[in-house]
Amino acid sequence: MKVLVIGSGGREHALVWKLSQSRRVDKIYCCPGNAGIAELAECVDINPLDFDAILNLVKYEWIDLTIVGPEDPLAAGIATVFRKDGRKIFGPGADAARLEASKSFSKDFMRRYGLPTAEYKVFTSYVHAEDYVRLKGAPIVIKADGLAAGKGVIVAKTVQEATDALRLIMKDRAFGEAGDKVVVEDCIDGEEASFMAFTDGKTIVPMVSSQDHKRIFDKDLGPNTGGMGAYSPAPVLGPEMEKTVMETVMKPFLRGVQAEGMDFRGVIYAGLMIKDGEKPFVLEFNCRFGDPETQAVMRRLDSDFFEVVLATSEGKLSRVDVQWKQEASVCVVMASGGYPGSYQKGKIINGLDKAGKMKDVVVFHAGTGFSGENVVTAGGRVLGVTATGKDVKEAKAKAYEAVQKISFDGMQYRTDIADKAIKGTSCK
Ligand code: GLY
Repeated sequence: MKVLVIGSGGREHALVWKLSQSRRVDKIYCCPGNAGIAELAECVDINPLDFDAILNLVKYEWIDLTIVGPEDPLAAGIATVFRKDGRKIFGPGADAARLEASKSFSKDFMRRYGLPTAEYKVFTSYVHAEDYVRLKGAPIVIKADGLAAGKGVIVAKTVQEATDALRLIMKDRAFGEAGDKVVVEDCIDGEEASFMAFTDGKTIVPMVSSQDHKRIFDKDLGPNTGGMGAYSPAPVLGPEMEKTVMETVMKPFLRGVQAEGMDFRGVIYAGLMIKDGEKPFVLEFNCRFGDPETQAVMRRLDSDFFEVVLATSEGKLSRVDVQWKQEASVCVVMASGGYPGSYQKGKIINGLDKAGKMKDVVVFHAGTGFSGENVVTAGGRVLGVTATGKDVKEAKAKAYEAVQKISFDGMQYRTDIADKAIKGTSCK
């Protein structure tokens, strides 16, 4: 079988890496890919939003299945376009992808189907939103309605921070049209966790739990990023909590998908806040694999990934048995100096071979490219150094040992990835 993966990040490298282990996969393509993916797949330089060009590639190369990594092509309807053309694709249709692409749509959906989530109001007027914030007080959460590359959610600790966030989103238009509307939401304290599951709209199969680290600096300081690291399992999401999430979040979610006739064949990823260690609230839905959670989670998948995604895309998920390894994994992201602000590209990356040869270590590439013979930086998040171990502590130690072998000019990384496994996060 021939498989195409769309995207160019660490998540897509992890998906390609896992697919490459399937006996049923003969060839992998990636649009556009990166230097690490190029070792396992044929990278084709097509923009993930150029659906005509991607469809042509699929037809010309007789590709059997397409897997979509990022949210933008899903929100723009790639799965709907492909299915209309009779192509197999792993990812929700445009209707279902709105659960990620519009925060107000998503919150209204949660309310309609009784999912636990924070109280909220939706505003298109800055003045009304500001009045509401002053009435409610802080802490309070301000969310741009549309896609904002993970930067559109601001947890405001003071009313001033909240009004600044409203101004940034609605008046300064920092995220463009994504700020036409805002969701203003109560702040819930607790511990965050990522719950990802495969679903074909009929069956839901949870993945092992995971958690990412969104802030750039240690101790969760500094601005939000796309994610600076992840670990799996997340202790807050043990077997009992998984049952609770399945009953109170995932089953009502599925009822909603079915009641509204949504085409959902892909990954549902609930960003959760677990209050008092016992009650899960949905902070947001994503309709795709998390990044960098996927790097940690794919290391623990025991089953043939191709079988799982094929069955999901065909609506036959109930026929596959998804098995996981009983070990832990940790992914440490190495980023360019200056990220998440402006940064330079083209820095030579040293030590990839040494780190990659270490037992239980896989170095997933994100923003990397080639300059002649050299692998160089080509993005903000550059690498996801991922290790497995008998527990999170051992996996963390191995991941950081591998990180020490890699260097590039200006590199930065957090030194506390996975420490959160033993401490909570809070709005306070
Ligand atoms: N790790 C956060 C995300 O994938 O949205």
